[in-house]
Amino acid sequence: MTPRLRLLFLGLIALAAVLATASVVLLVTRGGGAANAGSQIGGPFTLTGEDGQKVSDTDFRGRYMLLFFGFTHCPDVCPLTLQRIADALEAAPELKDKVTPVLISVDPERDTPAAMKEYVAYFGPTFRGLTGSPDEIAAVLAAYGVYARKVKLEGSALDYTVDHSSFIYLFGPDGAFLTVFDPQQDSAALAAKLKETVK
Ligand code: NI
Repeated sequence: MTPRLRLLFLGLIALAAVLATASVVLLVTRGGGAANAGSQIGGPFTLTGEDGQKVSDTDFRGRYMLLFFGFTHCPDVCPLTLQRIADALEAAPELKDKVTPVLISVDPERDTPAAMKEYVAYFGPTFRGLTGSPDEIAAVLAAYGVYARKVKLEGSALDYTVDHSSFIYLFGPDGAFLTVFDPQQDSAALAAKLKETVK
C-alpha cells in the first residue's frame, strides 16, 4: 500500500469504529435506560467454555453477568479493562459474590478454549472465557452490537490484531440487559456504578 492509501484505509477503520460505538450508544440511549433496552442488546448464545464444554447465556441465570468482548492477544485495552473489572470486584466482596465477569473472544481463530482458560485465570477464578467458531462469534457480535475487525500487522510476528469496541455490558440474574459501562473508567468508579445496580 502507498502511504496515502494506507492513511485512507486507517481513516476508514477509525470511522467504522466510531460509527459502531455511536450505534451502541444510540441503541442504549434510545432504549430509555435499563427498563426497556433489554430487547435491543443481547440474546441467546451457545459458545464453547474453557474445557471445551458448551456454555449458554442461560448458564449465567441467577447471577449478574458482566460481559466484555476482547481477545487474548490484545496488547492494551483488553488486559487493562479486565484488570479494572478484577480490581472493582476484588474491592467489593458483595459484588464479587453476585457478578460473573465473562470474556467472549472476538478472535475465534486464535482463541482456543485452552488459550481462553489460561488468559482469564490471570484475572481471577470467577472469570469466564468463551470462544466459538467464527460463525458463532460473528452472530454473537451482531446480537450484542459489538464492532470487531481484523487488521493485518505488516512485518509483525503477531500477523494481525483485532480492532474492537470495548463496552462492558451488565445483564441481570434473569438475563435482561441492564446497562453498559465505559471501559475507560477506573476500578473505583466501576465498582460504585455496579453497586447502584447490583442488588
Ligand atoms: Ni482488546
